[in-house]
Amino acid sequence: MSIMRTILLHLSKSRLANQAAQRYGLRLGAERFVAGLTLDAAMRKVRELNSRGLLVTLDHLGEYVFSEEEADRAAVAVIEALEAIHASDAQANVSLKLTQLGLDLSSGRCLQRMSGIVATAKRLHSFVRIDMEDYAHNEPAIALYERLVSDYGRYVGIVLQAYLYKSLQDMERLHSYAPNYRLVKGAYKEPEEVAFPNKEDVDHNFITMIERQLLSGHYAAIATHDEQIINHVKQFVKASGITRERYEFQMLYGIRPALQQQLADEGYKVRIYVPYGVDWYGYFMRRLAERPENVRFVLRSMLKR
Ligand code: FDA
Repeated sequence: MSIMRTILLHLSKSRLANQAAQRYGLRLGAERFVAGLTLDAAMRKVRELNSRGLLVTLDHLGEYVFSEEEADRAAVAVIEALEAIHASDAQANVSLKLTQLGLDLSSGRCLQRMSGIVATAKRLHSFVRIDMEDYAHNEPAIALYERLVSDYGRYVGIVLQAYLYKSLQDMERLHSYAPNYRLVKGAYKEPEEVAFPNKEDVDHNFITMIERQLLSGHYAAIATHDEQIINHVKQFVKASGITRERYEFQMLYGIRPALQQQLADEGYKVRIYVPYGVDWYGYFMRRLAERPENVRFVLRSMLKR
């Protein structure tokens, strides 16, 4: 892992820097990756993306809360997003992070909040995706998902990260729930004891997991900007006779927009992950870490001001 990447991922967890960034507003080039500070601003982007044939998953930004009240407010924000999507008949669902809903404070209360959110999604015929965070939260997130998917079935899904050695076994373990997975490479800094250190191994495991999920008959959300992997998936589904309602591609807002549009124009389901809110700092730093060249954009945008 490059030094720059390590520094950026380390900074992404700094509470002090997060507070400073919140005061500073959506700057430093963050507006390239974050749709806005408010739900209204995000809904404008949703409508614009929908009008171009792109689906959305909305993420009210935030992670690692420090009080039950903060976690309660986060749950209200997610429910408001589900209601706004329903009210405007938008082609969108929601994604969230369990640490924002208080997973570190009390898993019982986190489950209660999640049950409220997933019940709302069910009532509004929507869907809730649990993002996967760092390794320390992986098992607690899967345990909570098992409870939710037992109670609510297809209204909730989770993310599995290809860089973790354990993810293939998790797929086997969860198979009986007919899980809807988003499959990703993985965005956090993890030690070699738990995650593949080499990119080639991650890519190889990613392809194995994608193929396994596609063949399982359960829904696959393939979340990547990696064109080689996308092309591989296109060929694989064609050769295996897997129809387009069984899977979708997902990409992040602001990353490879031309490729997003091209896939949608070719008739694939494409969903854009649209983050919004004041707590954009950790998310933004992870995007910089994925591609340290992005730091140049930040410096340029700071110089322009
Ligand atoms: P890779 O990193 O190999 O990038 C392929 C190409 O994409 C690059 O060459 C570049 O052109 C472009 N690219 C990728 N990242 C870029 C960036 N930041 N800026 C500019 N260009 C970029 N992770 C996680 O741990 N938990 C999660 O819940 C999620 N959720 C999630 C949802 C969605 C919709 C996506 C697309 C991704 C995630 N991720 C995630 C992040 C994921 O784990 C991974 O870090 C990124 O997607 C980058 O990896 P790629 O698969 O794009 O490949």
